[in-house]
Amino acid sequence: MWMNDPNGLVFLNGKYHLFYQYFPDANIWGPMHWGHAESTDLIHWKHLPIALYPDKLGWIFSGSAVIDKENTAGFGKNAMVAIFTYHNDEIWKAGNKNTESQGIAYSLDEGKTWTKFEGNPVLNNSGEQDFRDPKVFWNDLIHEWTMVLAVHDHLQIYSSPNLKNWKLESSFKPENDIDVGTWECPDLIKLKVENSKEEKWVLIQNHDRKAPNGGSGTRYFVGDFDGKVFKNSQPSIWMDSGMDFYAGVTFGNVPNEKKLMISWMSNWFYAQKVPTEVWRSAMTLPRELSLKKVGNQYILKQKIAENFNKILTPLFSAKNVNLPFEKKVDLSQVEIRFDVKNPQNNFKIEFSNAKNEVFEIEIKGNQLTTNRSKSGLIDFDKTFAEKPQTLDLRNQKIINVQLILDQSSVEILLNNGEFSFTNLYFPTENYSIFKLNSNQKINIKNLKINKTNSIWKN
Ligand code: FRU
Repeated sequence: MWMNDPNGLVFLNGKYHLFYQYFPDANIWGPMHWGHAESTDLIHWKHLPIALYPDKLGWIFSGSAVIDKENTAGFGKNAMVAIFTYHNDEIWKAGNKNTESQGIAYSLDEGKTWTKFEGNPVLNNSGEQDFRDPKVFWNDLIHEWTMVLAVHDHLQIYSSPNLKNWKLESSFKPENDIDVGTWECPDLIKLKVENSKEEKWVLIQNHDRKAPNGGSGTRYFVGDFDGKVFKNSQPSIWMDSGMDFYAGVTFGNVPNEKKLMISWMSNWFYAQKVPTEVWRSAMTLPRELSLKKVGNQYILKQKIAENFNKILTPLFSAKNVNLPFEKKVDLSQVEIRFDVKNPQNNFKIEFSNAKNEVFEIEIKGNQLTTNRSKSGLIDFDKTFAEKPQTLDLRNQKIINVQLILDQSSVEILLNNGEFSFTNLYFPTENYSIFKLNSNQKINIKNLKINKTNSIWKN
């Protein structure tokens, strides 16, 4: 049935928990629940019963989960506490703005069964429209909990000693901001800068409908955080410029403070119309985030969770690749990597099938372009393939490419994850021809095509 945002990403006792926006009664959006899955390795997932159901205060919108190690809330030591948005549709239909408030629930059995706090909502709405998606973490700088909350066109930062009483500390919105639509699903994380002792705070912010290629997208700010106020130090950067990467947030409580992110692979422009039937939507592979300084800019890098390599079986490899290169291979579940040794960016990648359905990726000069106008089913919504999608390569030369293809998606990572671009497609039969080409003399090396084995254990 229907799924959207990842929610309540948290690690506990050797397991990663993925809750998600779920409507069990239809394959379109509706009264939201929190579905639940868990994994020990971030790759093989097990479906579990629904964790949170709507109640008289509203539907259960997006939010996060924490492990209350010191029992600050009084629900029990190491309680898993979910902090989520109540969305009250009756208030909405009556034409009022204060539809959303924040509630909490706790679980003492690793997220299997949940009790809602009787004092909900813990954060009331004083008249704001779009007041939602709390991301909470333990803040060592103030020895309290911090919540970042998306509020229509800005971010609010709250603190609490006990997850029940929240105090507004500050708001954030960059000066002269562009119009990016509604602010949704924020996250605030601390990262070490690669090859240095410096630490920076990264504010990840999702926006529902004005990303560069249209519709939903995720951008990030890099700056400093004193425990209460976030100070931005550079213009925002889009985290993944493809149309199908949204509502991404990171796991809490992960050992060694690893920052692992999962995003929803869709776009509000057409999410409810994509041509799948018994299910609608998938998540990206989990990605580990790191920060690199390039010139005077901090760049977020994304690396597919390491255990992914364990499900790969080699299908084909070549040290040197002569162009044009063409390989017939079932592309429905593969990972493809290669290195590029070029004087300049100039090559084209194609996935196609015997019906001449084709998905194209072109890297030329300072731009990556994807084109899905002939990729298969596209008519379900005009915004799906209306125009090619582009990514500005920030004057970087592309040195390596990783492509992870599933039946209806490709996750594209360039230069060890410095660029990310995620796209859906719906060929009417599997893509089965992989092509690489260039109209210049270029050097492609170390091509590997690996099969990705199924993650569903029988
Ligand atoms: C983002 C979002 C959130 C909201 C949820 C509702 O995709 O709109 O802001 O909490 O989805 O399902």
